[in-house]
Parts: sequence; C-alpha cells; structure tokens
Amino acid sequence: MEYKICGNTGLKLPVLSLGLWHNFGETDDFENSRQMICYAFDRGVTYFDLANNYGTPQGSAEETFGLILKRELLAHRDEMIISSKAGHMMWEGPYGDGGSRKYLMASINQSLKRTGLDYFDIFYSHRYDPETPLEETIMALIDIVKQGKALYVGISKYPPEVALKALVMLRENKVPCLAYQGRYSMLSREVESHILPLLQQEGCGFIGFSPLAQGLLSDRYLTGIPLDSRAAKVNGYLKKEQITEDLTLVLKKMNLLAQERGQTLAQMALSWILKNNLVTSTIIGASSVDQIQNNLQALKNIEFSSEELSIIQSILSDE
Ligand SMILES: NC(=O)c1ccc[n+]([C@@H]2O[C@H](COP(=O)([O-])OP(=O)(O)OC[C@H]3O[C@@H](n4cnc5c(N)ncnc54)[C@H](OP(=O)(O)O)[C@@H]3O)[C@@H](O)[C@H]2O)c1
Repeated sequence: MEYKICGNTGLKLPVLSLGLWHNFGETDDFENSRQMICYAFDRGVTYFDLANNYGTPQGSAEETFGLILKRELLAHRDEMIISSKAGHMMWEGPYGDGGSRKYLMASINQSLKRTGLDYFDIFYSHRYDPETPLEETIMALIDIVKQGKALYVGISKYPPEVALKALVMLRENKVPCLAYQGRYSMLSREVESHILPLLQQEGCGFIGFSPLAQGLLSDRYLTGIPLDSRAAKVNGYLKKEQITEDLTLVLKKMNLLAQERGQTLAQMALSWILKNNLVTSTIIGASSVDQIQNNLQALKNIEFSSEELSIIQSILSDE
C-alpha cells in the first residue's frame, strides 16, 4: 500500500480506503463483513470510513465494525484510522438531522457507544446545512476535538464557497480541516473545477468517495442487473433507473479500453483516480473479499498514455 500525507498535516492515509456504507449492516452477512475488514487491514488499508447512518438499520455498520474491532483488531487500534460523520437524517424529531451543535454532539456520543471506541480519528460534518449558521457547525467540530472525541475533523459535500469559509474558520481556531470528502469518479467529476484547486490552495486533503460510481464502473452491469448487486437490493442507494442504455454503452466502451490495458473496468476506474496528485485517498466500497482483492491490483498500473486519456475523454463526452 502507498500512503499519502493528508493536506498540511502529518497524517498519512492509504491511497485506497474502505467504506462501510453498504454491506456492513445488521441485515448483511456478518462473516463476510468481518472477512472484508480483516483482508483490507492485512493489506495496508488502514482507513475505515463510517457514518452514523450507515447500514440497515441505520447505525448498524458502526455496531458491526465495533464488534469486529473488539474481537480481532483491538490490539491494532493505533495502526488504524477510523472516521464517522453526522449530517444526514438519523433520528426522528428536530435534533437528528442537519448541522446543529445539538445534533453533532449527541450523534458523536452515540457513534462512540455503537463502535465502542474512545475516540474517532476523523469526525466529519456529513453535509452543509443551510438552516444552521456555519459558525455553529464549525464550533461544534472544534469542541469535539477539544473534548478528545476526535483527533481531526473534516467536511463533506460542502459547496466550494462555504467550504472555503469553513476551512478558514477551522484554521483560525487552530483546528485545521484535515480533509474534504467528495464524490469523485470518471462519471462524477464536479469537484475538479473548484473543490480540488481550492483544497490544494488551502492545504486541505481530498478524500474521494464512490470511485466506481457505486459499482457502475465495473463489469457488474454490462449485461443486466445481477440479483446480488446494489442496484437490485431494496436498500441500495443505486437505483435500477440509473442504468440506462446510453450509460451501458459508455461502460462497455470503457470496459474494452480497460481490457486493452490488461485491467478490469473497476481497476481502470481506480487507477484513473490514483494518478491524480490532488487526491489523498479514495474510499472504495465492496460486497466481497474478491472485489477488494481485485481493486487493490489497480495500484500496479496507474500510468495512462495521452491516447488512453483522450479515448476516455471522448467516451465520457458521449455519456
Ligand atoms: N461523504 C459522503 O457523503 C459519502 C457518500 C457516499 C459514500 N461515502 C463513502 O464512500 C464509500 C464508498 O462508496 P461506494 O460504496 O459507493 O463506492 P464504490 O467503490 O463506488 O462502489 C462500491 C460497490 O461497487 C461494486 N464493486 C466494488 N468493487 C468491485 C469490483 N472489483 N468488481 C465489481 N464490482 C465491484 C460493489 O457493488 P455490489 O455491492 O453491487 O457488489 C460495491 O458495493 C462508502 O462506503 C462511504 O464510506 C461517503
């Protein structure tokens, strides 16, 4: 595994991390979840990304992770980076959603309890909440660090202009923002125009998520929708309607290029991100050890010829 320093801090993150959004909940196979976490950690994937609402039912991915940690990995706690987040709807009533101090403080306490951890390495504001003054959300993050409940803080999916204000506020209060988490894949490149240059200028790390566009950028959907895939699951965030004929055509063309490179489509999609110096780490999701094994191979070939890049560009412009 390769590790990169995150922004202007001393923290190194693996270039590929593992996220527990899908496939680690109470309704999923615990033994499979356990194998994926242990397999990844044994191969140098030191960063595990959680959030209060991950898993079905919500919160159960933190419980699964906590159990696996307690049973097998506790001796390695200091070799791991574990994050959680709050920001999206978690519980009923006015205090279980958004960016209020009340929600963030209550939520991190719940997340610590579910995971059995004393502290998180990173705690994120999961989204910008326009109904809460930015100062309130940011001061809550700062106090979370001061109370020892997290070592670093981050923000996720904030619009560029708000992100800049948040970064400045955090820095002025001597709790610099470790990282911004944003969606980034060959099919979602919005962060390239404003967010990535801003983070570079401000010395903040960028952690990409959904690098395979939830599995679209793999051989999963080239000839239909497999029954065990995210798109086929009731609780999956990827919807069948997203898999259009036009998109399938794009994926098939991408797959041909990947084959020419001697890679799977998933590997090529990851290599394409790994070549970008502005990305500190990319959080992959997985439903099996085989997928993690396949994805880690992407590290072996992150070079693209200018011809390959222009083919990718022209395939994407057909999307
Ligand atoms: N900050 C935020 O708001 C936010 C939002 C979304 C995600 N995230 C983080 O990012 C993490 C990753 O997101 P994601 O799960 O959408 O990532 P992803 O890597 O784009 O998609 C993961 C899915 O792709 C499929 N897949 C993975 N490797 C494969 C392979 N080698 N071959 C074929 N299919 C493969 C699997 O689908 P099947 O399950 O169908 O097999 C897997 O569940 C999350 O767990 C979370 O930690 C953060």
